[in-house]
Formats: sequence, C-alpha cells, structure tokens
Amino acid sequence: MNILVTGGAGYVGSHVVEELLKTGQHKVVVLDNLQKGHRESLLGGEFIEGDLADTNLLDEIFTKYGIEAVVHMAADSLVGESVEHPDKYFNNNVTNGLNLLNAMVRHDARYIVFSSTAAVYGEPIETPITEDHPQVPTNPYGESKLFFEKIMARYDKAYGLKHISLRYFNAAGASPSGAIGEDHRPESHLIPIIIQVALGIRDKVIIFGTDYDTPDGTCVRDYIHVTDLATAHVLALDALADGAESNVYNLGNGEGFSVREVIDMVEKVVGKPIARSEGARRAGDPAVLVASSHRIMKELGWQPKYHDLETIVQTAWDWHRRHPQGFGA
Ligand code: UFG
Repeated sequence: MNILVTGGAGYVGSHVVEELLKTGQHKVVVLDNLQKGHRESLLGGEFIEGDLADTNLLDEIFTKYGIEAVVHMAADSLVGESVEHPDKYFNNNVTNGLNLLNAMVRHDARYIVFSSTAAVYGEPIETPITEDHPQVPTNPYGESKLFFEKIMARYDKAYGLKHISLRYFNAAGASPSGAIGEDHRPESHLIPIIIQVALGIRDKVIIFGTDYDTPDGTCVRDYIHVTDLATAHVLALDALADGAESNVYNLGNGEGFSVREVIDMVEKVVGKPIARSEGARRAGDPAVLVASSHRIMKELGWQPKYHDLETIVQTAWDWHRRHPQGFGA
C-alpha cells in the first residue's frame, strides 16, 4: 500500500517507518514538521517537511503519492504541558487531525492507524486495564486523543473510514538494529533520564513521589519496547487492508515496574550506580498503569519480542551510549 506516516520522524514514528520498510510491501511517505522529530531518524521512504495545518499540502501529498492508508502519529504528547496549554493540544491533536481525516475522505483513503494512549483511561479503577475500562481522562492530552478516537468512529459510520486506535502504555527502548532510538528535547521520560545520569549528562534522577499506594511507594508503569509497538502498527494496517472492522487495542506487556525498579534495572545493565533523590509527586501521574493486551494478541496475533525490562533497557543503553547527543545538534 501507499502509506502516509504523520509524525514519522518522531521516536515511535521512526520505529514504525523502520518496520514498514522491512516488510518490503509498502511505499512510505513521511510528513513531519520536525518540531520534535529528527530528519536523521528516517531510514528510508519519502520525506516531506510540513504540517497538518496545511490542507493544500495534504491534498498535494494524497494526489501525488496515491495515499491509500495513514498511520497518524503527529501530535503533542506531554501531559503537564497539556494542562497549562490546552489550546495547543486541542489545536494540534484535534483540529489538525481533522484536516487529515477530511483529506482522507476527499481522496478516498479508507484506512487509518492512530497513535492513542493509556492517558484516555485516567485514574484506573481496575488493573490490568482492558480496552473496555471507563475512559475518563484527567488531562487535555488524554482528552484530545479520546476525542479523536470518537471522531474517527463517527467518520466510520458516515464515510466508511476504517480505523484502529493503538493505546500505548510506556514506550521505551531503541531499535535492536542500533540505527535509531529515543531523543526528546528536553527529555522527560524516565529511562532516557536515568541513562543520562549513567552517561554523566545529568547529576541524578529525581523520583517523582514516594508515597503512592504501591509496594515501594513509587509509580508503577508498563514499559513496552518501541519495536514491539511498531510491529503492532504493521499488523493493524494489514488487518484493515484485509477487511477488519474498526477497533481499539491496548499495547503494553501486562507487567508493571516501579520507578525504583527501573532505576535498579538501569544500574544492573550499565554496571554503575545511579545517583537518585526523592522529590514531590508530578501532577497528573496515576499510581499504577498496567495494560491488558490480550485483545490484540488474540485478534491480530501480536506477540511482543522484547518484553522483558532488561532487554528494553539494554537496547536503550546500546543506543544512548553510542549516541550520547541523540541525533546530534
Ligand atoms: N519519573 C520520575 N522521574 C523522572 C521522570 C519520570 O520519577 O525524572 C516517573 C514518572 O513520575 C512516572 C514514571 O517515571 O511515574 C514514568 O514517567 P515517564 O515520563 O517516562 O512516562 P509517563 O508514564 O508519564 O508517560 C507515558 C508516555 C506519555 C503519555 C503518558 C500517559 O510517555 O507520552 O504515559 O499516561 F502521555
């Protein structure tokens, strides 16, 4: 298929592009405004620098490349920022996303795989979280993603747009190929921050909250390898092309690790002590987020290959120690 990948130069996006290219079956066109993505993270395909706000550009791309399907990952994705600047989140994640859906309708592109998030659930009332868990987001980021899921459902009924939403838990690690990895600026994610301490780029990691109702008092998260996330996108596209109905799937490993356990794992993998200190809770952090991913395993045959935390951290470490400055200046 001819596939448009929005946000394809981002962390998850570049890994999805790598997996799509590996199939040898798809022509990949990446649209990214490079506000957060890196041109250097793209291992192939056509690259277009641009924004979803530009509807003329979207029309040009759909026409020129005969786009049949979309993987939509372009978005803002920081919970804290979304609380302070909801306008940015609703504009980019909803309004600009609508431009994309409308272009799909105009150009008769019928399939979309959407990067959604565990943040659509809000504070969990039961764990592990299944897709049917109530969706009560506690921040504009999660809300913007949930709105978009609902919009796609309406577009399916009205225009036959088939969609699969993938609700990511905590994406982590780097491609086992060694070619690409995680490079956020500024970095806010736990594993790269701990690795920056190991590399001497930071003094210490601050543990955000030690008084949660969890076994060691720190937050528990479900870390999923970014390549396992990426392969799920390929399966979802194949399913849609084979006539699957619209659906939503969680993507996690079903096992939670506390912040302290993750720091200890990085210590083990890098073989040196990590300086840490205990800080206040970060606003908006639920205590525990662990996924049930049985639905995608059963329905799409998804099987994570890099599910243990040690492997996830090892691939992240391999990338960061060879690329301490990420993709460079
Ligand atoms: N943490 C620390 N210290 C740090 C950084 C993080 O203690 O310096 C803690 C956080 O409080 C959290 C855990 O480590 O408990 C993981 O934090 P991340 O920032 O790595 O990941 P989040 O769970 O906050 O975020 C993930 C995705 C987001 C998404 C969110 C939805 O990375 O994009 O889940 O809940 F919005």
